[in-house]
Amino acid sequence: MVPDPASDASDIREVDSGRVAIIGAGHVGSTTAYALMLRALFREIVLIDNDAGLARAEARDVSDANALARPAHVWAGDYPDAARADIVIITAGAATQGAQSRLSIATRSAEIVRQCVTRLMAEGFSGIMIIAANPVDLMTAVAIAASGLEPARVIGTGTLLDSLRLQHALAHRLGVAPNAVHAMVIGEHGDSAVAAFSNVRIGGLPLSRFQPDWSVADEAQIATDVRNGAYRIIEGKGYTSFGVATAIVRICEAVVRNEGAILPASTQLNGESGISGICLSLPCILGASGIVRILEPDLDEAEICALHASAAIVRKALASLTA
Ligand code: 2OP
Repeated sequence: MVPDPASDASDIREVDSGRVAIIGAGHVGSTTAYALMLRALFREIVLIDNDAGLARAEARDVSDANALARPAHVWAGDYPDAARADIVIITAGAATQGAQSRLSIATRSAEIVRQCVTRLMAEGFSGIMIIAANPVDLMTAVAIAASGLEPARVIGTGTLLDSLRLQHALAHRLGVAPNAVHAMVIGEHGDSAVAAFSNVRIGGLPLSRFQPDWSVADEAQIATDVRNGAYRIIEGKGYTSFGVATAIVRICEAVVRNEGAILPASTQLNGESGISGICLSLPCILGASGIVRILEPDLDEAEICALHASAAIVRKALASLTA
């Protein structure tokens, strides 16, 4: 539920929510545990991994930071422990190498995600699920199908991360703070992502008014940089972790605090922006029950075409995954 705007500000709680479980204690899972601990959103953070020794080691390592942060109990557990969590985050999946596209690891990731979700549901999970495994739009669809949860309770990190990259790139170019840039990427979290420049606002101004010499070439350059952001990081360190962990934490925060925040997230579309039957990112209102509402942004002609092209790519990939 979205908070009642008329209610007291104390409804936006400094949360002491119960338990979050992270399935997959690799780079993304362990970074997420650390970031969640620093953010003090949960009393308990449970790490689960097929490699129980890795989960234990990461839990201990994160726990070492406890004394200087607001304490959380960080521990390595198993599926019955995850089933009692308010939120379960699935980071387990295949990893891309080098310039491999996210879609190229769909089959292997789907096996892993399906197995994790099936085990979790067998233990009686009924909370909110956040999917970060790639290709995230397909894995969100896989998780919805395998869980039988109401689709609104399954949230893919989607293009929230691309949107953070877009905000950062625009802020850098325009000389303002990233949080002063209102910008979003929609569509696939992948090579067909759509940077919706027509929606960008800086201090309420569209790009062309904020920066009168702004050009289509600037947009093309920034869109390419944002799209290639992950590849450049992977080239340098082999994987990405901090950006996606921050996106996960932001989604947790919006849910736990029942914020009514509007963030791009991957969700099952049922006709929104003319797209159905797949998971893709559009701006969503997020609250305690998950995706409270999906918004249909006003886009220009080129962006509408690009969004539909992105949907077609995801639909084809989903069809070959489920064939
Ligand atoms: C990212 O964009 C690889 O999807 C991951 O950082």
